[in-house]
Amino acid sequence: MTHNATPFAAAVAVGLCLAGPAASQATCTLPDDRYDMTDAQVDALYDCMSDFMLEGYQSKGEAVAMAYRDWTQASTRPAVAGVHGERFLNTFVNGIAAEQYLRFEEGAFEMPVGSVLAKEMIGVKDGAARRAPLLIMTKVDDAPDTDNWFYSGVQPTGGAMKVNQNFCHDCHASYDASDSMGYPVPEVRASAD
Ligand code: HEC
Repeated sequence: MTHNATPFAAAVAVGLCLAGPAASQATCTLPDDRYDMTDAQVDALYDCMSDFMLEGYQSKGEAVAMAYRDWTQASTRPAVAGVHGERFLNTFVNGIAAEQYLRFEEGAFEMPVGSVLAKEMIGVKDGAARRAPLLIMTKVDDAPDTDNWFYSGVQPTGGAMKVNQNFCHDCHASYDASDSMGYPVPEVRASAD
């Protein structure tokens, strides 16, 4: 394991260490209780993982992976919601989706066709952060069985994921008051302005 002198003071404060740029796996450690981290600790975790994750997602040129970091971030920081394997979740939404998504509305509305929602995930194993897939929902007009959502994903190593539409939608459909969207946990929802 390579311990570089890191320029991130916040990272040092929570015991993170950053592998050198040439390393294939960043080593970003975190406290035992991932539900009980301060904003600064989560920010430091994200600083440590962010470039490494992006590099992986983009390594095979998947279109959403190449674009999503320029979209609107729907959460103020990654957060653990309990679902999606208790990973840290961080959602970005494209220009077609942003105005409606950021209302976090509950009611009889439908997202505009062409909306794309992309969720980064950071997993945890043996006290260290791991890259996890980038999950994607795209609003289409020809998928009535899944409320016109098409589910897809990009592996941490850049390849397209094989996604079972029913597996994803069986859970997302329970959010029927918000067009099958789960939304980030309330304390990290970004404000519309
Ligand atoms: C067990 C329930 C469950 C399953 C299964 C599930 N999700 Fe989710 N998903 C959620 C919840 C709850 C949220 C909102 C939590 C958050 O973002 O903090 C969410 C959020 C998302 C988001 C961000 C947009 C939003 O607000 O809903 C995307 C994109 C997403 N999931 C894609 C997928 C894909 C692709 C699959 C299948 C591979 C999948 N999900 C399977 C529950 C689930």
